[in-house]
Amino acid sequence: METFIMGRMAKFIINGGKPLKGEIEVAGAKNAALKIFPAVFLTKETIRISNLPVIEDVLRSEEMVKVLGHEVSRVSDRAVEINFKTPKCVDLPEGLVNKFRASVMFIGPMLARCGEVSFPHPGGCVLGAGTRPIDMFLHGFEKMGAKVEIKENRYRLTAKKLKGATIFFHDVTVTGTESLMMTACLTEGVTILKNCAMEPEIPALADFLNSIGAKIEGAGTPTIKIKGVKKLGGGEYRLIPDRIEAGTFAIMAAASKSSDVLIKNCEPAHLEALWWRFDKIGVKYVLGKDSVRILPTKNFVACDVTTHEYPGFATDLQSPYTVLMTQARGSSLIHETIYDRRLLFADILTQMGANIIMGDPHRIVVNGPSKLYGRKLISPDIRAGMALIIAALIAKGRTEIDNIYQIDRGYEKLDERLRKLGADIKRLA
Ligand code: EPU
Repeated sequence: METFIMGRMAKFIINGGKPLKGEIEVAGAKNAALKIFPAVFLTKETIRISNLPVIEDVLRSEEMVKVLGHEVSRVSDRAVEINFKTPKCVDLPEGLVNKFRASVMFIGPMLARCGEVSFPHPGGCVLGAGTRPIDMFLHGFEKMGAKVEIKENRYRLTAKKLKGATIFFHDVTVTGTESLMMTACLTEGVTILKNCAMEPEIPALADFLNSIGAKIEGAGTPTIKIKGVKKLGGGEYRLIPDRIEAGTFAIMAAASKSSDVLIKNCEPAHLEALWWRFDKIGVKYVLGKDSVRILPTKNFVACDVTTHEYPGFATDLQSPYTVLMTQARGSSLIHETIYDRRLLFADILTQMGANIIMGDPHRIVVNGPSKLYGRKLISPDIRAGMALIIAALIAKGRTEIDNIYQIDRGYEKLDERLRKLGADIKRLA
């Protein structure tokens, strides 16, 4: 844990141009871990979580569970056991809520358990503004009978008793789907969620909740039906492999052109949109049952991408793919449909030598191949930060990446793991 706390001040120094060779294991999925911690409020029995990645966002979730009164015991590096205590309070602390957007996941289970919850806007945005709204969550809770008030920059939700409802999401939302699905487990009556997200972490969570007594049908499809039950039991939730980490490593190996990397402990079926593109552009790879091997590919061609909800091309893979396209022959249009600010990092790539034309906040054109050069950079966010590491690994010369707390949020001991593949990367405190 200490390494990561130090990591807030730390930077990565990378000397690019080394071919990567060997094996790398994929950790448990961050975006599955961030949902199971809030889910413990749905039961009074013991929950064990295994295959946990040791990353900042998980440590923050663990902290939140403790602050809210539960007992968390570390069983091993990768497993914790959580025991129910009567929740201490219904106020999510601002200091923690501001640190990670996924704190929003605690609202529904707290409301279902305590009948009340109060919190500031997640991620530190000002109320009503910001780029990551929570209107669909609030609308869903209201339909289930909760009263929503906004007072002194905090939301306060109250409900004597929640009741089943039919809720339509006007846009596909991953955490919104998961949040209302969890809340409905202890809500009297039947809840039907329509236009749901279908990301693999959602059926994984539903399967676990069903294994401890919930009655959820249809998770992984656009319509989810939940029949409320009086209580849930205890059990073990083993996280599925992180598909974004697996896809990122695959892109990283492909981008360096001379790498031969075996990515182990992954679920290749979760990345069909990426394999389809690899086929189209000519990257060579071999899929195994729970692995993928990326073979050296000297030349590949450009191919457009439009980010899309699962099973489409994940927005979380857009930034690594953009780096890959700087090494491809031809022009590719990168169309980011989910977030407004996720293409801004392209400007940093141009400082490294990439030829990128900014169309508007949602579209860029990458002209490749370009030689990249090491620079002093600041990691803007978790996925863009990881993309900059890929760029630095293939660039000529030395790159310094600051603000790597943003990378530690989602990738466990990245420097150590990349060094095992032959990368010249070190962490400076
Ligand atoms: N949106 C609304 N209203 C809402 C909720 C969302 O308008 O009430 C909008 C968002 O502004 C965004 C779109 O809907 O434009 C999609 O947002 P979504 O709610 O699906 O995103 P999320 O659930 O907050 C999860 C992942 C993200 C991933 C997205 C899309 C977690 C903790 N986060 O976010 O992961 O990019 O789904 O797949 O599961 C990451 O890991 O780096 C990351 C950002």
